Amino acid sequence: MSDLNTCVILKSRPIGIPTPEYFDIIEKPIASLSDGQVLVRTDYWSVEPAMRGWVNDAPNYSPPVPIGDVMRSFATGEVIKSRDANFAVGDQVTGLFGWQTHAVVDGTTISRKITETDLPNSLALGVLGINGVTAYCGFLDLCQPTSGETVVVSTAAGAVGSAVGQLAKIHGCRTIGITSSAAKIDQCKNDFGFDEAISYKSPDFKTELTSTLPDGVDCYFDNTSGDISDAVMCHLALNARITICGTAAHSDWDPIPMGPRVHRQMLVARAKMQGFLVFDHKERFPHAINALANWVRDGSLKYNEHILDGPAAATDAIGMLYRGENTGKLLVRV
Ligand SMILES: NC(=O)c1ccc[n+]([C@@H]2O[C@H](COP(=O)([O-])OP(=O)(O)OC[C@H]3O[C@@H](n4cnc5c(N)ncnc54)[C@H](OP(=O)(O)O)[C@@H]3O)[C@@H](O)[C@H]2O)c1
Repeated sequence: MSDLNTCVILKSRPIGIPTPEYFDIIEKPIASLSDGQVLVRTDYWSVEPAMRGWVNDAPNYSPPVPIGDVMRSFATGEVIKSRDANFAVGDQVTGLFGWQTHAVVDGTTISRKITETDLPNSLALGVLGINGVTAYCGFLDLCQPTSGETVVVSTAAGAVGSAVGQLAKIHGCRTIGITSSAAKIDQCKNDFGFDEAISYKSPDFKTELTSTLPDGVDCYFDNTSGDISDAVMCHLALNARITICGTAAHSDWDPIPMGPRVHRQMLVARAKMQGFLVFDHKERFPHAINALANWVRDGSLKYNEHILDGPAAATDAIGMLYRGENTGKLLVRV
């Protein structure tokens, strides 16, 4: 075993979307273990839109990654040394290990042992990880869709959006996906079974949206905010439910751009809108992961992965998400 840990560290504080110059790749000796700690050799690192918030010094739900620290991220890997009786050498695990090849962590940092040994480990970062659980809790628990309802999803071709669309189909809903390009429209319809998919970049976006919504929107799973959401909010059906899951369309958070006021549409539709953070729903994770894994196994829940190779690729990976260049759950293979 190499006794060096290759890490991607945050070099300086980005403003807006972090680009490669804000990161450095360094090697340092692997730390020795104290009681209660394990050494995990990582095999996949996750890339999330939320990382932009984790490195920026703007008000958020967690403190920013300190300058000089390993970039915070979820990862999968194998326990190769253990001083925690709950974990044995050889266990496959996932947790907040960071963008580093060898993570010495407290056992409490491990989110779970990966028990779906019939499925690829990388799924624990996507459809059986934060993305899938976000779709499960953020859509099924908050929107409580019923058969025959119309569901609109933004970032529909992405890791969270594609899962929301498929969960909606599993529950008998009609699904409309919003994405950027012709290739992703094709992915939404042919890979993920959306009934309709449209591009927010089309000059006719608002007309196309209107024509897909003759009876309005019962559930809107909002991953973008911005002009896309302003357009969707004009079509709320009676008793509509809206999950605010992400704000990918905001290029700047300081100040947060103000859009049209939605109070009139909400009042007329007697709609309910709720902000969602997946980490508030930890008690639901085992149930959600079990259900999601069974849908993956029976073929009713499909996923795409977009895999980059090696630590250097990680430094531009967050930018890729905000340029819409990913064609599935974005991962770095170590
Ligand atoms: N609240 C929570 O607990 C939670 C947890 C996980 C994820 N999320 C949110 O869920 C959303 C999707 O995350 P993901 O991991 O599944 O990423 P993803 O959808 O796989 O990738 C991000 C996508 O965002 C879209 N995008 C980027 N810039 C945009 C813009 N200016 N306007 C509209 N769309 C834009 C791009 O898709 P197009 O090519 O379609 O533009 C890009 O592919 C994000 O907003 C994320 O923050 C929230």
